[in-house]
Amino acid sequence: MPGSGDSTVLRMLGSVPLFSSLSERQRKTLAETGKERSYAAGASIVKRGDKGVGFYLVLDGKADVRKDNKSVAALGPGQFFGEMALFDEQPRTADVVAEIPTRCLVLSSWEFWGALSKEPEVLRSLMQEMVRRLRAPVPTLSE
Ligand code: CMP
Repeated sequence: MPGSGDSTVLRMLGSVPLFSSLSERQRKTLAETGKERSYAAGASIVKRGDKGVGFYLVLDGKADVRKDNKSVAALGPGQFFGEMALFDEQPRTADVVAEIPTRCLVLSSWEFWGALSKEPEVLRSLMQEMVRRLRAPVPTLSE
């Protein structure tokens, strides 16, 4: 898709807290490396149990994170998902479904590690959010 390195994605990356420590040049590289993917409302983006091969940054729309068919989070523009399976190379921990038409910037695991492994500030933010997610209570069946 021609839009991947475009100024809209680049501008968007500039406003994402996760990437605030990156230089303009590093953000440009990310925008050019990542692939834009669009999902219709109701489409599955990530399936629990699948092998994780990508990291997703929501560009617009809304992605619903579900465990046992219960919503545990709704992620909007500037938020991310798919980091867990990349960190531990284990299956996806949740289903992620587009709640409305949703566009994401997707980085493959090697692009993700290539771009971020030397960026301690980004890794710290990622890990902070990941720990927050891991601490989040799992919804019970009666909810
Ligand atoms: P991963 O396990 O790779 O794929 C599913 C993703 O859902 C997971 O990475 C996280 O990015 C996201 N996720 C899992 N649990 C939560 C949660 N409690 N809050 C927000 N996002 C979550």
